[in-house]
Amino acid sequence: MTKLAVFASGSGSNFEAIAEACRSGRIKAEVALMVCDKPSAGVIARAERYGVETFVFSPRDYASRDQWESLIADLLDSHGVELVCLAGYMRIVGGVLLERYRDRIINIHPSLLPSFKGAHAIADAMAYGVKVYGVTIHRVDETLDGGRIISQRAIDYDGDDADHLTEMIHAVEHELYIETINKLIDK
Ligand code: GRF
Repeated sequence: MTKLAVFASGSGSNFEAIAEACRSGRIKAEVALMVCDKPSAGVIARAERYGVETFVFSPRDYASRDQWESLIADLLDSHGVELVCLAGYMRIVGGVLLERYRDRIINIHPSLLPSFKGAHAIADAMAYGVKVYGVTIHRVDETLDGGRIISQRAIDYDGDDADHLTEMIHAVEHELYIETINKLIDK
């Protein structure tokens, strides 16, 4: 069975969608590890509910990103992880992880890239006044939200209810992440 790792910093709804799909057999894989850089993040309780092993760390406890990434890369190796899924992981992935896991790290972003990169994509797109929003899943490289695109889905929305739009985007994210992981692990 393919082993996945999910990296997250926030509430973890994408983590849960992936973990649930693995549990129900919709994804033929297992979440072997959840990595989180925020000890107060909601995703930790979700991982516990799913019985997924976690590595939770505070960046300030380490001298450098290389240091925590070496530890994480060793954990990925020891768990036999084949695909790393970033799901709201609010850090740039550095050279250590990219060197050891290049082409095996993917990210989900709540816009139609290359539009609206960065941490406030939904608010930025709404402020711009777009009428077609969307979700992108891409390979992770040295650039911010800049790696090769794997899949995208558009969402028509012509309103001003940010909460409703965010819900719509999350629902599409959960579905697209499951479909995309399945395609990647089927190859
Ligand atoms: C998602 O919108 C994802 O696209 C972005 O961060 C958010 C994470 O949400 N990168 P959640 O923690 O999975 O609920």
